Amino acid sequence: MLEKPTYQPRRDMLRSFQLQLKEICARPEVTRVCEFGGGANPHFSLDFIERNSLDYLVVDLSAAELDKAPAGYRMLEADVQAPDFSLDGSYDLVFSRWLLEHVKDPEALHRNVRRSLAPEGYALHLFPTLFALPFVVNRTLPDTLTSRVLPIVRSGRTQHGRHGKFPAFYRWCRGPSGRRIEAFNGLGYRVDRYVGSFGHKYYSRVPFIPDGDGPVADFLVRHPISWMTSFAYLNLRAGQVE
Ligand SMILES: C[S@@+](CC[C@H](N)C(=O)[O-])C[C@H]1O[C@@H](n2cnc3c(N)ncnc32)[C@H](O)[C@@H]1O
Repeated sequence: MLEKPTYQPRRDMLRSFQLQLKEICARPEVTRVCEFGGGANPHFSLDFIERNSLDYLVVDLSAAELDKAPAGYRMLEADVQAPDFSLDGSYDLVFSRWLLEHVKDPEALHRNVRRSLAPEGYALHLFPTLFALPFVVNRTLPDTLTSRVLPIVRSGRTQHGRHGKFPAFYRWCRGPSGRRIEAFNGLGYRVDRYVGSFGHKYYSRVPFIPDGDGPVADFLVRHPISWMTSFAYLNLRAGQVE
């Protein structure tokens, strides 16, 4: 059952998403984990994977990105939104970080994730949302311009290798709303958490919204407006709504 949509400042979001992921991976029933769009920067270290006895698979469209990842990961080069993509339906957790904004057909992706999950399996996704100003600019201006004027709108910081720049569409990348939740229910998910966050590092560099990542973000957490979120994460479960 969905808790009320929750909101938090951007600066707390990454830690909160990571804690959720770690907490799910530590559950005894969770052994098979797949990271979609892990590319050059798989989220979990090989050490973490070994300590938690995880069967861990990284899937990415780009062989060049997978090549930049540290050696030792089990990898699959594949388009996760392709109609014929499917894993064997036994994954306890499928998650993505900074992937959804790059996907042209999000419905196909979420359907493929659902098909890859074991009954009651978890799906977690972290993504930027419209209509935050940096992402509206990123979607609207041509690539050559955004890479010069807005280098920081590139979401997804590198941890291991450096990843390239990928076209961003932001389809279905929105803050929490009844309409989005219904769409996930229709694909066979329960929505356990839908967390929107306010603020962006970029705002401190823009003269007319210098407090956008501080007091303004804090105000919006107390008085949320869903279409003004900058980022969100989703915690889904495979299964029908009771
Ligand atoms: C912004 S990078 C994020 C990489 C990593 N998750 C991170 O947090 O640093 C997006 C990744 O998604 C991959 N990607 C984009 N579209 C994809 C698709 N349709 N199927 C699989 N991977 C895709 C890209 O190749 C790239 O590695």
